[in-house]
Amino acid sequence: MLSKKVHTHDMDEARRQLASAHGSRYLSAPLPKYELPQGQTPARVAYQLVHDEMNLDGNPSLNLASFVTTWMEPEADRLMTETLGKNYIDQDEYPQTTEIQNRCVNILARLFNAPHGATSVGTATVGSSEAIHLAGLALKWKWRKRRAAEGKATDRPNLVMSSSVQVCWEKFARYFDVEPKYLPLREGHYVLDPNEAVAAVDENTIGVVGILGNTYTGEYEPIKELNDALTKLNQRTGWDVPIHVDGASGAFVAPFLTPTLEWDFRLPLVRSINASGHKYGLVYPGVGWVIWRDVAELPEELIFHVNYLGGDQPTFNLNFSKGAGQIVAQYYNFIRFGHDGYGAIMRNLRGIADYLAAGIDTIEHFELISKNNSLPLVCFRLTADRAYTVFDISEKIRERGWIVPAYTMAANAEHIAVLRVVVREGLSIDMAELLIGDLRSSVEHLDALHKSPTPSRQNRGQAKTKGVC
Ligand SMILES: Cc1ncc(COP(=O)(O)O)c(C=O)c1O
Repeated sequence: MLSKKVHTHDMDEARRQLASAHGSRYLSAPLPKYELPQGQTPARVAYQLVHDEMNLDGNPSLNLASFVTTWMEPEADRLMTETLGKNYIDQDEYPQTTEIQNRCVNILARLFNAPHGATSVGTATVGSSEAIHLAGLALKWKWRKRRAAEGKATDRPNLVMSSSVQVCWEKFARYFDVEPKYLPLREGHYVLDPNEAVAAVDENTIGVVGILGNTYTGEYEPIKELNDALTKLNQRTGWDVPIHVDGASGAFVAPFLTPTLEWDFRLPLVRSINASGHKYGLVYPGVGWVIWRDVAELPEELIFHVNYLGGDQPTFNLNFSKGAGQIVAQYYNFIRFGHDGYGAIMRNLRGIADYLAAGIDTIEHFELISKNNSLPLVCFRLTADRAYTVFDISEKIRERGWIVPAYTMAANAEHIAVLRVVVREGLSIDMAELLIGDLRSSVEHLDALHKSPTPSRQNRGQAKTKGVC
């Protein structure tokens, strides 16, 4: 019996075997975990083994750590299942998938207020990370061409950004040899300061990043103010330093919740924008988008033309093949929701975030950091030094199934540790109410734990006096 073998083998041996409660009914011998099995496994058993393993993951509905979509409508699921076998890159074979991608690019360029008559271009990506790498490359190439044409040095490009950028920006800088110029945060101020950004810019700056909804606190960076300050600098120096907006989350939120906020192509220096379709675009992972305000912002040398799939096929992506399903699902959402639907969903999320924030604010242990004019998330910290930290609270509420991350802020504000709840579809008001209750019980429990005797010791004492063992 498999179960017996697992118990009698030494632990190292057991760790190398694939064991599953249900799968073991049908297997006469365990399967190896880290090498390709010699023989075949019946489909039903293989399914059960993998299915059982997946149960060890957290519950996606209670995953309040992630911005990424965990639920779509059954019709979207069906479309994605129908397109599972389609490779997005086979543009000649699947021209309609390409057409749908192009429609999505057009829809987004207009949603981001591309100027009338602009020849905006863009592409679907695996997520915002790939989109950011592509946008960063376009900035670097444009800067290099301009400098080379002026006979100036091109060996020391830099990029100015707040130190609260997501890790993909650090990756871009390292992988593509661009010096990152991080603007430090300070307590109470967790977004880029336009004056500090402009002061950091020099002739080697390929661009400045503005984040629409930073990962740490959800706050929007002041992109209009950045545009205005940078415009003055460009006029004074004759440089042409552009802005890229990292709208991974906010590009699908701001157009619906704060349409008058100017953060997009309404600002002349905003030359490119990325967005994660799989965050507030409401599609399963992984789909992202990058849009350039005008084709002139995308140097032709970065576009590869291949003909091995038939016809001339221009590509500007880091990966060649990928599933078409996410793009199709994004288009489904655009048709399904329209402006009104996205607006209703975002307002609902905002309302739940506000409710949650108000509830958390009633717990004296906590101080809110997030604001209600940004992404629908709640970021908060402990008000005073206690015998426990936000990391203990995160662990404690995990016992109730909630996945709420605790982390420290970026450079110069690392001493501030916070908890963050991302409000996505699936977190109802009822669940928010339960979460508030569980947060309250967690801090009460931790308070009591740090007094003597601890509650469990106290209970044991009471149990003894009642004669219960
Ligand atoms: C502001 C920001 N930029 C970029 C990313 C990376 O996005 P993706 O996970 O789509 O690659 C994230 C992810 O959380 C983000 O919050």
